[in-house]
Amino acid sequence: MVNIAQIGVGYWGPNLLRNLVANKNCCLKTVVDLSPERQAYVKSLYPQVHVTSSVEEVINDPTIQALVISTPVATHFDLAMKALEAGKHILVEKPLARSVAEVDEIARLAKEKGLTAMVGHTFLFNDAVKYVKKLIDSGELGDVRYIYSQRLNLGRIRSDVDALWNFAPHDISIIQYWLGDPKPISATRQGMDFVQKGIEDVVFMNIVYPKKIMAHVHVSWLDPHKVRCMTVVGSKKMVVYDDVADNKIAIFDKGIDAKAELGKKMDFDNPGFVQYNHRSGDVLLPQINFQEPLKMEIAHYINCILGKETCITGPDHARGVIQILSLECGK
Ligand SMILES: NC(=O)c1ccc[n+]([C@@H]2O[C@H](COP(=O)([O-])OP(=O)(O)OC[C@H]3O[C@@H](n4cnc5c(N)ncnc54)[C@H](O)[C@@H]3O)[C@@H](O)[C@H]2O)c1
Repeated sequence: MVNIAQIGVGYWGPNLLRNLVANKNCCLKTVVDLSPERQAYVKSLYPQVHVTSSVEEVINDPTIQALVISTPVATHFDLAMKALEAGKHILVEKPLARSVAEVDEIARLAKEKGLTAMVGHTFLFNDAVKYVKKLIDSGELGDVRYIYSQRLNLGRIRSDVDALWNFAPHDISIIQYWLGDPKPISATRQGMDFVQKGIEDVVFMNIVYPKKIMAHVHVSWLDPHKVRCMTVVGSKKMVVYDDVADNKIAIFDKGIDAKAELGKKMDFDNPGFVQYNHRSGDVLLPQINFQEPLKMEIAHYINCILGKETCITGPDHARGVIQILSLECGK
């Protein structure tokens, strides 16, 4: 049994809280939030849990072994370092920190203290995302050519981070995971601030990877449609992962194959000369046995603390995501 405290129960925190209370291998002892309204909310739902406004109280509580941090991004680094200094494991909501240098500091201290440092990249615990990973690793899609994602809606406007730092940790962590955490050659972004001055609501990001793979991420909280969709184009097959659809995965046996005609000279000026075949075969909608990703994430965190599993969203993975978000590729 792992004794846990959660810091921050705003918009997202209640989801973590519910899963911590439900997990049989941990005991949620304390919740910290600066807001009296959020404290009252937690007390009304979970009267058995101690609620406080003092981070120091949980940091200095020797009975608490681990923290879940779900506060605004600007507070992540300081809270994470404080917790690690005090010998506590940490699960920090995405993004882990605001720079590669901060991630490296967290990684160094966690290693020195022998503690789990995990970031809440929830989608790596999503069964549809894991299904696509298996498709890619098995070679069924062939060589990955490119991936593009869209995470759009008329969304909750944030003022502490822009749309890229708010939404794209998800897309980038998924793309990095699918590709095996490679080091990108470059990442560039283009965005505009329409709603709040200086905070981009719409961002288009391009990432170029070795082996001639590219990715494109489009995020927006100023869009008429709720879209959570990613497409992987492989040399053999193509797959669409639509997180808001009933059938989350669709595998298309589609592609363009060069028509090899040995000994025949290619004639690009002759329109009647067929050089390529368009392959358009079946579309498969596989059955995905779906479990709540956050439940799986919390279970993984507890198992990592207990030494039963190796963390899949630790500082190494987080570093790759932050490197791309902060356009620090190559460091
Ligand atoms: N995984 C996901 O899908 C997902 C979705 C939304 C948000 N998030 C992440 O969750 C985190 C929190 O986002 P949110 O939307 O819930 O923010 P929020 O602003 O709604 O809530 C933050 C809460 O933290 C409290 N707080 C702030 N500083 C604190 C401190 N020093 N000590 C104690 N409490 C403090 C605030 O009072 C507030 O209740 C962010 O990192 C965000 O990126 C993740």
